[in-house]
Amino acid sequence: MIRLKSIQEINKIETASKIVAELLERIEGMICKDLPTYELEKFAVDFIETKKALPACKGYNGFPYALCISVNDTVIHGFPSKKEILKEGDLVSVDCVVNKDGFFGDSTKTFVVGDFLTEIDKVLFMKTKESLYNAIEIAIEGNHIGDLGNIVSKTVIPSGLSVIKEYSGHGVGLKMHEDPSIPNYGRKNTGPVIRCGMTLAIEPMVVEGSPDIYVEEDGWTVKTVDQRRAAHFEHTVVIEKNGPRILTAI
Ligand code: MF3
Ligand code: CO
Repeated sequence: MIRLKSIQEINKIETASKIVAELLERIEGMICKDLPTYELEKFAVDFIETKKALPACKGYNGFPYALCISVNDTVIHGFPSKKEILKEGDLVSVDCVVNKDGFFGDSTKTFVVGDFLTEIDKVLFMKTKESLYNAIEIAIEGNHIGDLGNIVSKTVIPSGLSVIKEYSGHGVGLKMHEDPSIPNYGRKNTGPVIRCGMTLAIEPMVVEGSPDIYVEEDGWTVKTVDQRRAAHFEHTVVIEKNGPRILTAI
């Protein structure tokens, strides 16, 4: 069941979303070579506490951290680590969900440490980001959820990239994960109709090589089988009469 939100609910989801947006902006300023990714986790825990909010991922189905930090061939759900030290050219995806007074905002950004190592890393980064904004642009009343995945795939596949099919975007707001599921592939005019009052987490997960993935022994960390790199961008968006509005933007 897709729950449409009231103006009051949207305002609260926006408050949670702005905390995530500000946090990711601060994290972007911290990303540099020689930084252990656990430093970002520490910062996030403090920052979220200062905002009198909760890190929603921590404890969710047993996930142990506030942030998912996924470096290079880790696609999603990477653990922050004191042993993972960032180096020049790394692609670092930071995914965070905040619960503020029972309302949820969810966003992910991929950052590059210094400069891109290869041209394909740059293409992966640019196209994955572009695919998110293309999907947001058509998240308007009367379109279908399938249109979103369709445009994500159409944006990235011509560059030789692949989309991950095992994980999807989702409704968000009163819970971290709500209906509908929003795959990053699909056919136009299929799936639920998009309506005003929907709050959606749209999140293309894209890889340079084969879309084959596996989950590590820790039960969470998702990696590419061919060890090639991944990118992930996500925004929480509300559908309004005037069109989509990104809640997880500053
Ligand atoms: N942003 C992620 C998502 O959209 C957060 C899930 S990580 C988890 O699903 F650890 F909380 F599961
Ligand atoms: Co999400």
